Amino acid sequence: MTRQVLLFICFLSVPSIFGQVSYSIPEEMPKGSLVGNIAHDLGLQTKRLLSGKARIYSRDGDDYMELNRERGVLLLKERIDREALCRQSTLCAIHFQIILENPMQFYSIAVQITDINDNAPTFDRGEMKFKISESATTGAKFVLERAVDFDVGINGINKYELKPSDHFALKLQNNADGNKNVEMVLQKPLDREREEQMSLVLTAVDGGEPRMSGTMLILITVLDANDNAPVFTQHTYKATVTENSPVGTLVAAVTASDADQGSNAKISYSITNALDDIRKMFEVDKETGEVKLIGNIDYEQSRNYQINILTSDEGGLTDSCKIIVEVQDINDNKPEISIMSKSNIISEAAELNTVVTMINIEDKDFGENGNVICFINENIPFVLKTSTNNFYSLVTDSELDRERSSEYNITVTCSDEGVPSLSSSVTLTLHISDVNDNAPVFERSSYEASIVENNTPGLSIFTVKARDADWNQNARVSYILEDSSVNGVPVSSYVSVSADSGVIHAVRSFDYEHLKEFHFRIRAQDGGSPPLSSNVSIHILIQDQNDNGPQVLYPVQTGGSVLAEMVPRSADVGYLVTKVVAVDVDSGQNAWLSYKVHKATDRALFEVGLHNGEIRTVRQVTDKDAVKQRLTVLVEDNGQPSRSATVIVNVAVADSFPEVLSEFTDFSMHDKEYNDKLTFYLVLALAVVSFLFITCLLLIISVKVYRWRQSRILYHSNLPVIPYYPPRYSDTLGTGTLPHVYNYEVCRTTDSRKSDFTLDRAASHNVLVMDPSSTLTMQKINSEKSILDEPDSPIEVSLT
Ligand SMILES: *[C@@H]1O[C@H](CO)[C@@H](O)[C@H](O)[C@H]1NC(C)=O
Ligand SMILES: *[C@@H]1O[C@H](CO)[C@@H](O)[C@H](O)[C@H]1NC(C)=O
Repeated sequence: MTRQVLLFICFLSVPSIFGQVSYSIPEEMPKGSLVGNIAHDLGLQTKRLLSGKARIYSRDGDDYMELNRERGVLLLKERIDREALCRQSTLCAIHFQIILENPMQFYSIAVQITDINDNAPTFDRGEMKFKISESATTGAKFVLERAVDFDVGINGINKYELKPSDHFALKLQNNADGNKNVEMVLQKPLDREREEQMSLVLTAVDGGEPRMSGTMLILITVLDANDNAPVFTQHTYKATVTENSPVGTLVAAVTASDADQGSNAKISYSITNALDDIRKMFEVDKETGEVKLIGNIDYEQSRNYQINILTSDEGGLTDSCKIIVEVQDINDNKPEISIMSKSNIISEAAELNTVVTMINIEDKDFGENGNVICFINENIPFVLKTSTNNFYSLVTDSELDRERSSEYNITVTCSDEGVPSLSSSVTLTLHISDVNDNAPVFERSSYEASIVENNTPGLSIFTVKARDADWNQNARVSYILEDSSVNGVPVSSYVSVSADSGVIHAVRSFDYEHLKEFHFRIRAQDGGSPPLSSNVSIHILIQDQNDNGPQVLYPVQTGGSVLAEMVPRSADVGYLVTKVVAVDVDSGQNAWLSYKVHKATDRALFEVGLHNGEIRTVRQVTDKDAVKQRLTVLVEDNGQPSRSATVIVNVAVADSFPEVLSEFTDFSMHDKEYNDKLTFYLVLALAVVSFLFITCLLLIISVKVYRWRQSRILYHSNLPVIPYYPPRYSDTLGTGTLPHVYNYEVCRTTDSRKSDFTLDRAASHNVLVMDPSSTLTMQKINSEKSILDEPDSPIEVSLT
């Protein structure tokens, strides 16, 4: 085929060139191939060629051709590569001459070498690498290496192809030098995240027949651009954290991912809460996204938190999420007890269910940790009542008694139901105030005391004592003599009681012979309002003293006349002359009398019965015995010291009365001296009585005046006064005549209660009760007898 074409070219060219022959052969013909029948074409005989020693001359010394003189043809001496010979020039020819000798002739021969498609397009490099950012915009151009095809003409590069063509298109651009620039144009954006590496094949195809092609690999690395924002795995995270967790506790971990690469994928986390104090409470690790506690978490302050977290890559793209943190309560708060109101003192008479204290409880914890139960210590008369939630009132539960317990320490303990339970307590001290609910109680149910008669007035006999279990004023006991009478005389004229000390004093000197015992009652009254009282019976026994001498009843002692017992001279021994009869008003030993002969005319004649007082003769009366016998009999009691009396017994020893009479006329002479003494004593007594009377009169007047003033003071004063009776018996008696006067001021009104208080005002006066009709009277008495004899007489006033 090739050959035919070449021949055709050959035929076309031969006739046109004279003296010159052109051949056209394709390149790459094998060695020895026929180039042309030169003899024919030049019109020469082969002989001529032989004779002419035709040879080929080439200036360049090229030696492609060989001349076969015998056949007259040109043969290829060696294979010709057009590209090597002519490079890219389209026309490629070998010029040489054929020189003949004899004659010298030469002919120019041009052998045109035509191109055959023996070269495929080739690329200088097998591959090209590009790094293209994924952010490259469409239309971006990338210059590709051109392929080279040594062939020319249609055997040269005809077209390029790029595959695959998803993203890029080829664009050929005509250059000024006629070459074409091959460019790759981005048609569709790249996405590194989808396809990071791309390999394209650029194929250059020539136009030869058969076509030949060359390829080049285009490796594209898509460079990352920060086109992807970080994305959290969840939009909302939930976490729980126990309150009081230590600093550093991991709360949650958030994760975000960034599809980008490298620094574009380097993400960091941060908390964006601005207003609240989340940032003081939590921190997020910049790199790992772990959220940790940095503050003290307190359920009571906040039960949940919302943490806003932002993540950003280094390119500044962000995403956000939130963490809802639930705080779990733990029992970390004690119940708080606050006392809303309380009374420190409550009366022992308080009714049941009296509210003493109101308490409010608060526990900041939640649920069971905040459920509070309160209780108080046991065995106290109080209970804790809960009204509404968390309000408690402490009320009395049973009766209070200050005397049993005057103070309570009430411990209120409140504990919650948490595990472990927390509790707190408060102690309230409650004082019980006194109410006058106890009467004074005497130490004994009755008292008995004795006092020896002839006591000094004002002598304290003994002391009664009553105790009152109450307190202070309610326990302040006053002793009051109850109104009664002894033998018709108010008892107050016998005894008085000191209001505050309970000392019982004798008001007067007692005489056993008139009063052996008496009873009265003393009332003890406390200072409460109203006062309570109790009374006790007191039995006073008066003890006898030997204060009375024996009194001789017989024989009767007369002033003038002389009585005598007659004893006949014939009387025998043991004759009962007479009997001395004596009595002693004392009692017991003090009244046990004994009789003795004190003096006698003739001691040998008479004797006295020691106990019966009988005077008997001891011997026979003789004539020598005097008619007139005088015996002094001593009557003695048995007291200590003993008292005695003497009696003179005249005995006439005679047989007849006239005998007696003559002997006894001088008997009365003895009594003269005695009568003188009696007169003196009477005068003395009269003087004393007069003096005392005047003294009493003065006293009455002064007491009257004093009482009138007192009553005016009382009238203006309404103060309730506790009776106070200072003892006035401290001084001793008997320093002289009438050394002291004791005033017993007695009033009685129809209202006995009032009278008590009225009397009390005169603090310096002792109190006696008297007949309502009586007015104040003062009287001096010498002996108790005058009072006892006149039971209706009012009050004795003074005693010496
Ligand atoms: C109450 O407490 C006080 C102070 O602690 C104490 O002095 C007092 O004796 C207590 N009273 C009782 C009745 O326990
Ligand atoms: C004395 O006490 C008794 C009971 O102890 C009582 O019955 C009587 O009325 C009281 N007397 C007076 C005068 O109060």
